[in-house]
Amino acid sequence: MDHSATTPIDSRVVDAMMPYLTQRFGNASSIHQFGQEARAAVDKARRQIASLISARANEIVFTSGGTEANNLAIRGVCEAAQAHGRHIITSAIEHPSVRGVLEYLEKNGWTITRLPVYDGGVVRIEDVRAAIRDDTVLISVMMANNEIGTIQPVKEIGALVRATRESGQKHLSFHTDAVQASGRIPIDVEHVRCDLLSLSAHKMYAPKGTGALFIRRGVRLFPQQIGGHQERERRAGTESVPNIVAFGKAAELAREEMDQRQEQTERLRDRFEEKVQSRIDDIVFNGDRRRRLSNVSNISFRFIEGEGLLIHLDMQGVAVSTGSACSSGTLEPSPVIKALGRDEELARGAIRFSFGKDNTDEDVDVAVEAVARAVESLRSISPLARESLST
Ligand SMILES: Cc1ncc(COP(=O)(O)O)c(C=O)c1O
Repeated sequence: MDHSATTPIDSRVVDAMMPYLTQRFGNASSIHQFGQEARAAVDKARRQIASLISARANEIVFTSGGTEANNLAIRGVCEAAQAHGRHIITSAIEHPSVRGVLEYLEKNGWTITRLPVYDGGVVRIEDVRAAIRDDTVLISVMMANNEIGTIQPVKEIGALVRATRESGQKHLSFHTDAVQASGRIPIDVEHVRCDLLSLSAHKMYAPKGTGALFIRRGVRLFPQQIGGHQERERRAGTESVPNIVAFGKAAELAREEMDQRQEQTERLRDRFEEKVQSRIDDIVFNGDRRRRLSNVSNISFRFIEGEGLLIHLDMQGVAVSTGSACSSGTLEPSPVIKALGRDEELARGAIRFSFGKDNTDEDVDVAVEAVARAVESLRSISPLARESLST
């Protein structure tokens, strides 16, 4: 129940990458036939990934994951555009790999406008419009949130950026982090009109440690890795051929099976939510329930700590997350849930359940029973629950 953290590798993806872990071990930059074989495989994967988002193959740059794609997009564009302005617009609910880079830039003299999301967890296009200044060079708003799954108005932002550019602000770019959205909802970079879009392989049934950045033709960006000439001088470093082949295959499967995966996860998610709602009182669903990824359910359980619930569920074999996986281990309440205007108690009691293509009805039923048991047991010892009963 934690597919937003990562996904198991599809056996068809393993089959596709296996030859490149064994006999076909060439370096894609080598001239000889071993190298050419690897180069052809990387190029095929580039086409498969481009086709998932309706881009051109030469607009895809491979990276070590979504984090690097976000770093390359933001730092790369900002370094290239800083002579024209040092202002960036973003949302209050970005992943730490965007949030952290922006905090770093802020310490180095950049001005960051963080747009609120209101209780549904979605930014308002009027706020984006009002935040644009003459010195704005980048807007970075994620496509779908990693904790609550809400889908942001990226198409409207893309159109606004295009219009602003056409009216003379030539150096404004739009980046979107599509790590959670890709493979789960259809993406077409011509509709979204973004200039940069980040992807990660391990959220779509391929191995961890590989990602990609879509960089629209003509966008100026400074590379962040210094070394060889790989990836058309945009990302130095020997390409991880087996992982890239796997990513390509996973993208192809995601495109072919998207409708069926969406239907399956939505059905499981709705079954789960209905059952939880009928079994457990004092819960709050986080994020706009009509405007979110089909596989995510984020629920706050009153009177208990999310961490405690997570551990109870883990002991029963059910894996979930509190906040984003990358910040687990800290006891800080999730900044995303807080951005929805939830109080501290609800922010601390939030749990993300995220479903995948191979989950079954039985998995859902087992999880509901485990949640009901864990919540009952934790509430029976919670001072907050006792206080509420006595008032
Ligand atoms: C929205 C979002 N962006 C970026 C990342 C980072 O991707 P990676 O794990 O490939 O570095 C994640 C991973 O959880 C994510 O959910």
